Parts: sequence; C-alpha cells; structure tokens
Amino acid sequence: MKLQSDVDVVALNAVARGPNLTPLHNKQRTRKVEEVVDGLRLDADAVLRVRGVFEQEMEAGRLDQPSSLQMENTFIPELLDGTENGSFMALDLGGTNFRVMNLVLKDGRLVDENIAFYHVDDHLRIGCGYRLFDFLAECIADFVHKQGLGSGRLPLGFTFSFPMTQSSLDDGKLVTWTKSFNCPNVVGMNAVQLLRDALAKRGDVNVDVMAVLNDTAGTLVKGSYLDRDCAIGLILGTGSNACFLEHAHLAKNNSHLTHGEKDVIVDIEWGAFGDNGSLDFIRTEFDDSVDEVSVIPGSFTFEKYIGGKYLGELVRRALVRLVGDGLLFSGTSSAELNTTWAFTTSMVSHIEQDNLDGLHRNTREILDSFNLNFDADDVLIVQWVCQLASNRAALLVSTCLAVLLDRMERPTATIAVDGSVYQKHPRFKALLEKYTSMLAPKRKRKFLLAEDGSGKGAGLVAAIAEKLRLRNNNSSL
Ligand code: BGC
Repeated sequence: MKLQSDVDVVALNAVARGPNLTPLHNKQRTRKVEEVVDGLRLDADAVLRVRGVFEQEMEAGRLDQPSSLQMENTFIPELLDGTENGSFMALDLGGTNFRVMNLVLKDGRLVDENIAFYHVDDHLRIGCGYRLFDFLAECIADFVHKQGLGSGRLPLGFTFSFPMTQSSLDDGKLVTWTKSFNCPNVVGMNAVQLLRDALAKRGDVNVDVMAVLNDTAGTLVKGSYLDRDCAIGLILGTGSNACFLEHAHLAKNNSHLTHGEKDVIVDIEWGAFGDNGSLDFIRTEFDDSVDEVSVIPGSFTFEKYIGGKYLGELVRRALVRLVGDGLLFSGTSSAELNTTWAFTTSMVSHIEQDNLDGLHRNTREILDSFNLNFDADDVLIVQWVCQLASNRAALLVSTCLAVLLDRMERPTATIAVDGSVYQKHPRFKALLEKYTSMLAPKRKRKFLLAEDGSGKGAGLVAAIAEKLRLRNNNSSL
C-alpha cells in the first residue's frame, strides 16, 4: 500500500519500531521488558501521524496562527556570490562552548581563520542576562587584543542559537532560553542590542554587530559555500532544529523581498514542536520525567525527544524503571545510576558502537563505571534500550526532513548538518539516510557535514551583510 507521497507503509512498518530484543534466557522477562519500553517504538501509523501534524503546524506557524512552530524568517537576503572580500568576526553562542573567530575571505573563499573557545560558567548561563552579555563582550575584546585585530571597524556576525523573532538581520528578540541557558531578565530583548550595549560599555574595541542568526542558518550558509544544492541546515547537537529554503511567497514577513528573490531561509524552531500537546500521542513516561528535570519544564517537547542534552537521560530513566520492576540488574540500582544526567548521550553512542560491532566491551565498561552488577542478559537489555531511543530520535528527525524535502520540490537537495549527535553517534547518519529515503522516496537528497557551520556561517553572513551595506551606500551616492 502506498500512501502520503508514495511512502511504502508496509516497508516502513517493518523497520520503524526498530529491532526486537534478542530473546533473554527467561521468556517472560523478555516480554515484560518489551512491554515497559514499548512506548519508545513508533509504528508506521504513528510516524505518518507525526508527519501530518508537522505539516499542519508548519502551515499554521507560517500564517501566524496558533502553532508550536515559529517558522521565522531569518532575513538573510542572499547567499555568497563570490564577491565577498575582507576580514569578518563571528560569535557562536548556544551549545557547550562559546566561540569567537575571525575569518578572512578572498573572492568569497575562506583563506584564513582563527578560532578561540571560551567556557561559559554555570553562573553565567543561569542568572542575570546582562552579566552573560558582558562576558561575551569581554571574550570579544580578549580575542581582538590577542589576535592583534587593531582598532579599525570589525564587522561581526552573531550566531545566537535560541528562538528569536526577527524583524531584520540585526534584530532578533529572544523568545525563550533553551538547553542549559536560562537568564529570564533578557527574554524579549534584542540579542544584537544587548551585545552592542555590552561592547559600548567597555569601549575598547571597534566591533560592528551586523547580523544575528540561528545556528541552523549558519549551517545552511556554510553548506551552500560547500555545495550549491544546499537547501536545509540541520543541527543535531545538544539541541536540535532545522531551517530550509522556503518558497519566498510562502514565508511570513516577506514584504522586504523586492528583488525577485525566489527563496527565503526560514528557521522552523522545531525544538518546540509539540509544545501545544500536538505530539502527546507519542509521549512516554520517560519523556515526562526528562521534561520534569530539564531547565525549563513544559517547553521544547521535540528537542527533548532527540537532542544530545536529553537522549542519555531518557535512556537512564528507562533503565531505572526496568530496575524498579525487577527486570534489570536483579532489581538493584546504584547511586551512580540513580543520579540525574549521569548517563550521557556520549555513553549511548559508545553502546551503539557495540551494537554495530556485535560486541559488548563498551557497554560493560560503562556499566562497571556505574558500579552495577550485571549479567549477559542485562547487557542485551541496556544495548537494546539505547538502540530504541536512538532509533526513535532518528526516525522523528527524518519524518520532519521528509516533509521539508517534499515541500521544497527540488530535483536534488543537500542537507548541511552540524552537531555532536550527528558527528559522534555511530548510527545516526545511516538511520537518517534510511528513513528519509523511505519517507520522501521521490526526492534526491544528500547529507553533508558542515563542520562548525554555526560559527563560520556567522562570519559568512557578516560578509553578506557587509556586501549589502556597501551596495546600498554606493546606490545612495
Ligand atoms: C534552539 C534553536 C537552535 C537549536 C540547536 C534549540 O534549543 O531553540 O534555536 O537552533 O537549539 O542549537
């Protein structure tokens, strides 16, 4: 049976739920374990329903009707055209590290770059927003001085990887913090202005903040630098989100498009997908309990199903429940396993490597580090739970990507991807390939790693903004 854009539902059903648990010594135990984690397994019906809801929410979002998807116009007016020259600074705030960099472009090609990493302490990530922006300004000044960038004007692009409402390239009002940031007193404010104010207070550098963008947009722009067919920017890291080249006439706030633009980069903000309850039909008790311990409970439903910040904790919650039911580790947990956030997504990746290799070494090492007593069946269960959580995440991401591929109707589309889950999870890329080809069978697609797209993309967008500034200056002469 072929339905919805030629999806082969029978074939999808055969794989969507992920593999079965290898039978344990005790049949009843096998069955009970399967029952406890069954909610993490989506069948084709559920996948197609997610797909339908995503389409509806995108449509409502773009029309400014109630929706969990923002569909924000990024106001990036064009991509690189090979005429960009000069030195551009970039900031990248949103993931684990804060980066400051300087890129030198010659005829649109990157010829030199310098990057510095700064650690953002917990007390800066959670607390007063002005203090956070003062810290960003301090890092910029440190970088400018150490790199000897001088006192001339330095155009800068700012990747700020949080939901924003944009009314121009240099106006991005923070909608809410996500991931591990929460500085409530600056919510609703323009991130560019906050940074400009913090820099002006110091007065020791001549940095001109030209543009603010999301990391997905940076990744798309970096992707388009590598491959002209690039049409989607995807982040699979601590958090998750995507942007895509939307038909210009379908983008909201498109009245600034007066030069016959065909496409606009739209930031979906899919991390919030389902915040209005529209995805509750796939929600499990494990998702509920991850949400409860997150920095901002009740928000970013979809991101909590797929983001690197949460996958490990999701697995840990499932394991703890299995222990509580006497189905794992003979019913005895450890203080380490009972610790919130102790089971990381990088551990899930290591265990998934065992699954790929048909080995148990990584899994045993990790369980040892949690001071657990385990046997061969326990190892199989832990490996299986990691596989199910990873499979569900990849399937959900692919479902949404398939919608984008169908919506753009391009003969071929490259998906530029960045982020730790994509880069470090040994199975994610293959799962995305498999599921997107099943869910958008008519669309040619290619995944492309756009390393550091979020940071370098900001430099490239600053170059585009600078080019436009010069063009406008010349035309007004
Ligand atoms: C933010 C997005 C961002 C994504 C990936 C989410 O939490 O809301 O703006 O693109 O994380 O970093």
